[in-house]
Amino acid sequence: MIPVWAQLGYLAAAICFIVALKGLSSPKTARGGNLIGAAGAVLACVITFFAYDVGNLGWILAAIAIGTVIGVVGAQRVQMTQMPQLVALFNGVGGGAAALVALLELNEIVAHGEDGGSALVALIATAFTILVGSVSFSGSMVTFAKLQELMTTRPVTFPGLPVLFGGSLLAGVVLSIVLVAGPGLAVGTVLCLVGLALGVLLVLPVGGADVPIVISLLNAFTGLAVAAGGYVLGNTLLLVAGTLVGASGTFLTKLMADAMGRSLFNTLFGALKGGSTLGGGEISDRPVKSAGAEDIAILLGYAHRVIVVPGYGLAVAQAQHTLRDLVDVLGDRGIKVDYAIHPVAGRMPGHMNVLLAEAQVPYEQLREMDQINGDFKQTDVVLVVGANDVVNPAAKTTPGAPIYGMPILNADESRQIVFMKRSMRPGFAGIENELLFDPKTTLMFGDARDSLTKLLSAVKAL
Ligand code: TAP
Repeated sequence: MIPVWAQLGYLAAAICFIVALKGLSSPKTARGGNLIGAAGAVLACVITFFAYDVGNLGWILAAIAIGTVIGVVGAQRVQMTQMPQLVALFNGVGGGAAALVALLELNEIVAHGEDGGSALVALIATAFTILVGSVSFSGSMVTFAKLQELMTTRPVTFPGLPVLFGGSLLAGVVLSIVLVAGPGLAVGTVLCLVGLALGVLLVLPVGGADVPIVISLLNAFTGLAVAAGGYVLGNTLLLVAGTLVGASGTFLTKLMADAMGRSLFNTLFGALKGGSTLGGGEISDRPVKSAGAEDIAILLGYAHRVIVVPGYGLAVAQAQHTLRDLVDVLGDRGIKVDYAIHPVAGRMPGHMNVLLAEAQVPYEQLREMDQINGDFKQTDVVLVVGANDVVNPAAKTTPGAPIYGMPILNADESRQIVFMKRSMRPGFAGIENELLFDPKTTLMFGDARDSLTKLLSAVKAL
């Protein structure tokens, strides 16, 4: 029985998690929300040591020490653009841990037994945690390998894959029923292996551009597995925390799929039908208009209204500070400048918000797609910095294009468009962007940080 003081402490930790989620919903309060969530997690861990009769203390502390060192060093070294990989890893180990704990609990149930109805529910929850936790672990490891380019980022399919996937799913369900009917460690272990295979088969056919959606889905899976694990262990806090992760992961998956104009089914199984497979693409050799810093500085310096569209390339070039300096100088010249934030610009949800917050861009200047899309018509210059797909009109005009149906920023409606990129390579979707060839468009080739530095000097010299 958990003592009352510990239950109250767990309640406080659960409140921390809920407040943290609220904080994370806006860039202004995200940092504070993150800290409150972390404080809740520390509180929960500390309480656990004092509220339970913990055995193997030396082993546990050693594991915590090793995990802490790996986590701190890993999180400090990771580049912003590698964040989705880190999330995939953390998520995977969470799911794997839930599955292992459920296997250990199964061992306990087999050894000591539990009575009647409570045993039945506990066994259902155990089977669920083993299966879903192991799917989440192996699926996350494959997403990590794809994003880290340890394997091809293109969808991997082979002729028997749908049958193998369907067969594994069926085996998972049947084994879960067998486990509930007659608990045994051997069945539990085979169920775990089937879950691992299922996770791999689920993620293999997903193309690189869609992998972050799948990470979010697997995140939801981990949450559900942890929630069920909380039931198995009789730990309410785990149940609450797992449910929160499961629910928010599910919402995020839906929001991301909607923002990319794809259904979740199409994201997961589109490649099996030979449908849209993102990634790759040809480099165009059609002529474009390009200019140097001085010409672009004149365009910008004498504009009244400018909108900046940041994208993945801004993060690659780490040019957010230089961009902010440029926008400040334009602001000092009396020019109204805003940043137009597309929900899937970059490679992870909120990527541009995080990037620009790092450069301390005022939140009021960050305008979401729906808020700003009407303003492009009255805009003199749109400065597209390292973005491509999020302004590609093919999303509206070309049925069959991988991004067809994705809402885009209406950069094409502005009077002048300036693109900063290094080459004529396409964006993540691997398709040509007709806007690059528009008579209103000027390209400034080069790494975004170099280009912005030159542009900043040129605007200052006006
Ligand atoms: P992209 O369409 O990928 O375009 C990035 C552009 O940046 C490219 O044109 C690239 O051209 C340029 N670039 C790269 N490095 C650069 C550098 N150092 N300096 C200057 N330019 C550089 O990016 P986007 O417009 O942000 O769109 C995001 C894409 O990712 C969408 O297709 C979206 O669906 C997908 N996606 C996003 C998410 C989330 S949640 N954000 C998740 C999954 C997929 P060069 O190579 O010629 O320089």
